[in-house]
Amino acid sequence: MNTFDYTICPPDLDPTRLPRHVAVIMDGNGRWARRQGFPRIAGHRQGAHTLKDLVRCCKDWGIPALTAYAFSTENWHRPLEEVDFLLVLFERLLRQELAAMDREGVRLSFIGDLSPLPSSLQQEMTHAVQATAHNQVVHFSVAVNYGSRAEITHACRQIAQQVQQGQLRPEAVDEQMLEQYLYTAGTPDPDLLIRSSGELRLSNYLLWQLAYTEFYFTDVLWPDFDRAAFHQALWHYQERDRRFGTLKHQEPESRAG
Ligand code: FPP
Repeated sequence: MNTFDYTICPPDLDPTRLPRHVAVIMDGNGRWARRQGFPRIAGHRQGAHTLKDLVRCCKDWGIPALTAYAFSTENWHRPLEEVDFLLVLFERLLRQELAAMDREGVRLSFIGDLSPLPSSLQQEMTHAVQATAHNQVVHFSVAVNYGSRAEITHACRQIAQQVQQGQLRPEAVDEQMLEQYLYTAGTPDPDLLIRSSGELRLSNYLLWQLAYTEFYFTDVLWPDFDRAAFHQALWHYQERDRRFGTLKHQEPESRAG
C-alpha cells in the first residue's frame, strides 16, 4: 500500500491536470454520528472539521476553487434543533476561522438566498466576504439556503423584468447572459463534483453549472472524507476523458483554465 505525504499534492497526480474547481455535496453526517452512537449534530460538527481541512488541502495541492453545499432550501424541514444547531455552527465557524482563512489567502463567498438567515449570521457573512475579497489562493464558496431551481427561476425573473421594461430584447438573452444572473456569476463551472455517503443524486445542486462536470460518488461518509479520500477522487478524475461533446480530449477555450 502506498503511503503519501498528504501535506503536498500526491506524486501520482498530474499537477497540471488538477480540477480548477471542485464542488462537494457533504452527505452522511447524520449516519456517521449514529454509527458512533452520537446525536446527529456531532456528525455536523465533525463534518465541519472535514470541510476546513479540505479548504486547506485545496490550498496545499493547488486547487483554486471549492464550493460546498452546506444547507439546501429543503433543509429547513429538518427538526428545529438541527436547523438551529447548523445555523449557530456556521456563525461560530465564521467567527473562529475567518482570520486563519484570510491569512491563508482564502476568498469566501456565499451562494443562495441569504435573506431568511438570522441577521447576526448575515452580518458575519457580509463581513467575511468583504474581509477576504482581495485573496486569491483559494475561492471557497459555501451554498447556504441554496436551491438550483430557485436560482435559475430568480435569474429568469430578473431577465424578464428587464425585457418588460424595454431594457433588453428577448433575442439578446443567451446562455452567457443567464449565467451573469446566477449566484455563481464570474466563477468558472466545477470540473469535478464529489458526493459522499453513497447517494447518487444531485439534490438540486448547481444544475446549470454542472452541465459538463465529472461526477464522483463515494461511499465514504462526509466526516471521514479525509485527504486520502480526496486523493482517490482526484485520481479517478484524472482517469476520465473529458470531451465536452467532442470526439477527442480537448477543452473549449471558454472552459480551459
Ligand atoms: C448532510 O448530511 C449535511 C448537511 C445537511 C450539513 C452540512 C454542514 C456541514 C458539514 C457543516 C459545514 C460548516 C460550514 C461553515 C459550511 P446529513 O445530515 O443529511 O447526513 P445523513 O444523510 O447521514 O442523515
